[in-house]
Amino acid sequence: MIQLEIILIFDNYFFDDFKRFEHYSLEINTPDGPFLFDYSKNLINKDILRELFSLCRECQIEEQRTKIFQGELINFTEKRAVLHTALRTPKDGKEVLVDGKNVLLDIHRVLEQMKHFSESIRNGQWKGYTGKTITDVVNIGIGGSDLGPLMVTEALKPYAKNGPHVHFISNIDGTHLCETVSKLSPETTLFIIASKTFTTQETITNAESAKEWFLNQAKDLKYVAKHFVALSTNTQKVTEFGIAKENMFEFWDWVGGRYSLWSAIGLSIVCAIGFDNFQQLLAGAHAMDKHFQEMPLEKKFTTETHAILPYDQYMHRFSAYFQQGDMESNGKYRTKEGKQVDYTTGPIIWGEPGTNGQHAFYQLIHQGTKLIPCDFIATIETQNPIRDNLHHKILLANFLAQTEALMRGLTEDEVRLNNNNSTDQLLIYHKAFRGNRPTNSFILPRITPFTLGMLIAAYEHKIFVQGQIWNINSYDQFGVELGKQLAKVILPELDANQSVTAHDSSTNGLINFINKYRKWTPNNK
Ligand code: F6P
Repeated sequence: MIQLEIILIFDNYFFDDFKRFEHYSLEINTPDGPFLFDYSKNLINKDILRELFSLCRECQIEEQRTKIFQGELINFTEKRAVLHTALRTPKDGKEVLVDGKNVLLDIHRVLEQMKHFSESIRNGQWKGYTGKTITDVVNIGIGGSDLGPLMVTEALKPYAKNGPHVHFISNIDGTHLCETVSKLSPETTLFIIASKTFTTQETITNAESAKEWFLNQAKDLKYVAKHFVALSTNTQKVTEFGIAKENMFEFWDWVGGRYSLWSAIGLSIVCAIGFDNFQQLLAGAHAMDKHFQEMPLEKKFTTETHAILPYDQYMHRFSAYFQQGDMESNGKYRTKEGKQVDYTTGPIIWGEPGTNGQHAFYQLIHQGTKLIPCDFIATIETQNPIRDNLHHKILLANFLAQTEALMRGLTEDEVRLNNNNSTDQLLIYHKAFRGNRPTNSFILPRITPFTLGMLIAAYEHKIFVQGQIWNINSYDQFGVELGKQLAKVILPELDANQSVTAHDSSTNGLINFINKYRKWTPNNK
């Protein structure tokens, strides 16, 4: 009800200002062509923008921005710097100090290591235990150690030439592992175990099971070195697992999991698309970092995103990626000072690629009671211009039509006219829709490593700005920890022979129901 009222109190600004596109859009030149951000179909006018900028100043966005790039302990609850931006800073860029040490030196040392390793995989010099070339690389990780590399390798598939096939296992559900390895041979498969902490239950269990699968055939532990590498901050746990230090690619505690694709966590991306393309991805993100740092506030994005709708099949994991990026960052109800907020913070992020989403949930965006701001992402060129671009033109026409329809709606008079001057008022009510639903449109020349890097970085900065406005710490994630701890308590209880009573009655009831009907033998006996 409240949401519907919000829609109603906004005038449709398009009818007051016919130069909205000129006033509320931004074009950035990139080496791959122009990158357009159009926010003119958003609920915004000069007064609202002015208010927003003064809110940003009040929230000290500019001061906080300087602090983040200087490596101050922005993530104060965990006493950590937040320096994913340093990961894409060129070697000769301005030094970034953490505890008096220039981290650019470490970053570029690991990048070199990634370059050499990925080249030896891609050119076939790295051999498996029977002397065969590696044909398949499997990244085992979850959350930030999976979503970023998966999203990027999918988005940049056209660049994955002459490389190994790259697969991703994240879910603890054994089906994910079994289905993935069922098509692979241990002789030609390399596993990348990606975990910042190297303690995540799902990842370590999957990694151990992958090792078991490998050793089932290879037999000798000494062969693990040729088929397992690790990406982590935790050397001790990596070596305990049986991966040699020289097969570990390091990163640091100032890289947040959900911001880590730019670090060693990007190794599967490098194996898929090659080091030069990965560097382009970093360069695109760095260009956006510079834009974010250098442009005056008044020239910057002020998006509020909910649905992220990429009109590009290669980008089909983009919304899922930012589901973690945004919701794990800004899903907080305490201010930095520890007070409970009395406003809404992190939005629910969701979406599907166009046009699939149109046939699924757009109805609710057009005529539902909730106001759902949408980001549309489209490209001028497609990587697959089949039938003389027919598919791409239809795709673009749909993207444009949706933003237009969301903005303008359909008045009762128009419905009447479209229906031969119908007098059926009930039908007219049902067919009319109010429009004025806010959208942003990003148009990229093509999805290239550079433009994708820019786009991801733009969203990262948006998350930062919103976190500052809401006065929350966007860089910790204590909310996900409780579930992890409880799962560890429950795990042995699934082997219990007696009724479990340690929890609330619902949880006890669920555990006992499973235990009553399960067919497996307790303790794997
Ligand atoms: O579920 C929360 C989380 O801590 C994420 O922030 C992180 O990306 C993911 O788990 C995986 O963590 P790790 O890389 O340490 O295995």
